[in-house]
Amino acid sequence: MITSSAPGKIILFGEHAVVYGQPALAVPVTQLHADVRIEEIFSPGVWINAPNIQLHSRLDSLAPSHPLAATVKNTLSTLGVSYLSGISILIRSSIPVASGLGSGAAVSVALIRALARYVGRPLTDEQVSALAFETEKLYHGTPSGIDNTVVAYAKPVYFVKDQPPAPFRVGQPFTIVIGDTGIAAPTKETVADVRRLWQENPARFATYFETIGSIVQTARQLIEAGLPDSLGPLMDENHALLRQMNVSSPALERLVSAARAAGALGAKLSGGGRGGNMIALTRPEMTEAVTGSLKEAGAKQVIQTQVE
Ligand code: PMV
Repeated sequence: MITSSAPGKIILFGEHAVVYGQPALAVPVTQLHADVRIEEIFSPGVWINAPNIQLHSRLDSLAPSHPLAATVKNTLSTLGVSYLSGISILIRSSIPVASGLGSGAAVSVALIRALARYVGRPLTDEQVSALAFETEKLYHGTPSGIDNTVVAYAKPVYFVKDQPPAPFRVGQPFTIVIGDTGIAAPTKETVADVRRLWQENPARFATYFETIGSIVQTARQLIEAGLPDSLGPLMDENHALLRQMNVSSPALERLVSAARAAGALGAKLSGGGRGGNMIALTRPEMTEAVTGSLKEAGAKQVIQTQVE
């Protein structure tokens, strides 16, 4: 039996602008994970069980474009394995789907690593990330690659599209509280909407993207210098720009305001937006108040995570 696990992720700064070549900062969230188990079975074929999405099916009866089928096929082809039979692949995940927490990327990464180990040919993080990127295209349309990168490397990452990821140093650990609106919002749609608005207003959107890019640069310097408290205003500024780009929503605004009212140093939506999750920066003594305030404001789930 082979098992593999991959973490969820949050984007601290830079979502959407990263699709247009600006940098972004993302970190793994280890409290959330996707887990894959591969076992030999007596019946022929490759069976996929994914209880979270009520899937119990033979691989060859899934459409070739199904993200799980495509991931298995691409991985086996990269590994030079033409045929596998008599295995059951169990996929479980505690990461909410379509909510900006990297659920698709985590499932892909755990599945790719489990298959590679099963056939005895482990892949490098770079290879795993590249394979997961192929599946991200099915989920997201034109992804930047940030999700598969941070999940495959499982480290804080300074990411620029089409460039090797640069891990960055966290000078002093800090706490982020994640609030889930409980509203599923496919990233594919928000990315397509931003693209349409950018085409309609290229100059305005270029300014948004560049301003977000400089926020990311400053944020990276502050994190490396061990000055996380100074990130708050940058989070607020990044959120204001995302709101102008039309990717916030009433539910996200409610949670962001609730976090700030409870004393958070800054708050913003995280990921594709419209629904999904927001993040708030807190000091340890404020974390409980911010958590309570987010729950009162309707958050379906609140997670506290340490960036280190
Ligand atoms: O998967 P999400 O919702 O965290 O979004 C990824 C971030 C985007 O910048 C919105 C899209 C991308 O591919 O980078």
